[in-house]
Amino acid sequence: MNTVITERHDKVLLVRLNRPEALNAINEQLADDLNEVLATYEKDETLGCMVLTGSEKAFAAGADIKEMQFKTYAEAYFEDFICKWDPLARTRKPIIAAVAGFALGGGCEFAMMCDFILAAENAKFGQPEIKLGIIPGAGGTQRLPRAVGKAKAMALALTGRMMDVNEAERAGLVSRVVPLDKLMEETLAAALMICEYSQLAVMAAKESVNRAFEGGLADGVMFERRLFHALFATQDQKEGMDAFVNKRKASFKNA
Ligand code: CAA
Repeated sequence: MNTVITERHDKVLLVRLNRPEALNAINEQLADDLNEVLATYEKDETLGCMVLTGSEKAFAAGADIKEMQFKTYAEAYFEDFICKWDPLARTRKPIIAAVAGFALGGGCEFAMMCDFILAAENAKFGQPEIKLGIIPGAGGTQRLPRAVGKAKAMALALTGRMMDVNEAERAGLVSRVVPLDKLMEETLAAALMICEYSQLAVMAAKESVNRAFEGGLADGVMFERRLFHALFATQDQKEGMDAFVNKRKASFKNA
């Protein structure tokens, strides 16, 4: 399992996304590997908290564009593409995201599936899928408005621009900003603190806070997922992704 590296720190499981060649873009292998880790984490009574992180340059730069660029609508729909990412949001034990560098597209969605985000000063967040002729497919259009409000979420989804860490903290996406060289120390300290409490109470608190946000979330995510699949039927998705892979500007035809 080399797309995901795990380390134990006492009762904390540190999980590091590890595809440096692709800025930790999330491919099938990474999703499978992460799911295996999540299943172990849920079952292991000696683990009280998980930390999900990436590298100093990138938490994750989104779904792997090179892997999905030729996907058809039928393929995306039949396989329920991206459903493999759902276990991260369904894990009942706590997960903290420690974000440095880019958290874009699926990377931002991964971070938002965690319970809270601690971010380094160089962190950047965004949902740039629009530039590829698609929309977010792992909850971005649902969790981002809940986190930062409609105005900012809509602007990010429609323009594809990135938000720096201070803007993200002001908007409520990030719980705390820390210096890059302190990110792991601070996150592990928070995780170890959580491990000191009753695991039952921690799980109940997580479930209860989530309840405040999840009215209609499942429906929203499913609606988003189907539109995301449908966009694989467009020429613009093929064009947007080919342009990215070949490092050129996309020319969209609205088709
Ligand atoms: N998928 C596949 N490969 C990716 C990738 C991605 N999402 N993001 C970066 N890479 C690759 C690049 O292709 C490049 O590979 P090569 O060296 O083989 O060319 C390598 O990672 C380094 O990337 P860059 O050279 O582009 O690095 P940079 O520092 O110049 O730019 C960046 C960094 C702004 C993050 C830029 O890489 C970028 O825009 N990446 C794509 C971000 C994006 O569009 N994410 C959304 C994906 S779609 C999605 O996530 C759908 C969903 O909701 C589920």
